[in-house]
Amino acid sequence: MKDVHNPAELISEGLSLKCNPLKYLHLGKNKSIGLVFFNSSLRTRLSTQKAALNLGLNVMLINIGADGWSIEFEDGAVMNNTSVEHIKDAAAMLGIYCDILAIRCFPGLQNRELDYEEKILQQFIKYSKVPVISMESATLHPLQSLADMITIAEFKKNKSPKIVLTWAPHIKPLPQAVANSFSEWTLHCGYNLTITHPEGYELNKQFTEGANIEYNQQKALENADFVYVKNWSSFQDYGKILPVNENWLLNNESLKNTNNAKIMHCLPVRRNVELTDELLDSETSLIHHQAENRIYATQIVLKKIIESISNEG
Ligand code: CP
Repeated sequence: MKDVHNPAELISEGLSLKCNPLKYLHLGKNKSIGLVFFNSSLRTRLSTQKAALNLGLNVMLINIGADGWSIEFEDGAVMNNTSVEHIKDAAAMLGIYCDILAIRCFPGLQNRELDYEEKILQQFIKYSKVPVISMESATLHPLQSLADMITIAEFKKNKSPKIVLTWAPHIKPLPQAVANSFSEWTLHCGYNLTITHPEGYELNKQFTEGANIEYNQQKALENADFVYVKNWSSFQDYGKILPVNENWLLNNESLKNTNNAKIMHCLPVRRNVELTDELLDSETSLIHHQAENRIYATQIVLKKIIESISNEG
């Protein structure tokens, strides 16, 4: 987000690419992108590959853990345990083989300071010496949020829609990354954002400054145009699932006082735990549009990176 000075322009360029995805098919000729996964993925993996192929990039993919040596991130470590190679060497090699790197690295959710330092992503940036994009890191999921902003731009009926980010129940502690990014991007785009969640689930203020925080979900949803549904674990009691008394599962009834709100979710979704089938399968659901727009969000970012490295060369 810090690199994006004019989000409206980026969103508009993303939408133009959607109309003509192969317009820049030759831009990435003879260049390679390396996709590095420390964690599972369906949408990010395939939409990033599709975006890269639409620009003519060669795509190389590695699943660290399954295919790669286990990596040491501590400076000065005596590597006499399970780690086989140091990030200094692994990232340097990837930077030699690839012109651009994309990294997926989730947080451990054990140590807040460590996760919020973004150590893995930062060390790839430091040691690879090539442009690095996040395919969801410990604290942020920017390409998801750009796709979400493109989706909102496509479906909004007025200039200033009311957007609500609502916490949803889940059986596992999940990162705050999607919620952090969605809040940051929505506010940066100048939208009216209300965040609703049970007490104890406050996000890091760094990403929510300017949002209206409302603990009553029904009140928050009044007159909403877009409702983004997402679970996250506690930031305060870091990585924990807290006891919640009220029912936060979103259903048709929850939306009765909205402005025929559109429903958004980044997927994967736990159906009938976070929100109901009736909502996910309804006309108001934008979930598949969001997933499709992951291609064009990534493609516009890759296009700009290729243009900048081509100019440097
Ligand atoms: N939304 C998203 O990032 O999906 P994946 O985890 O499947 O990549």
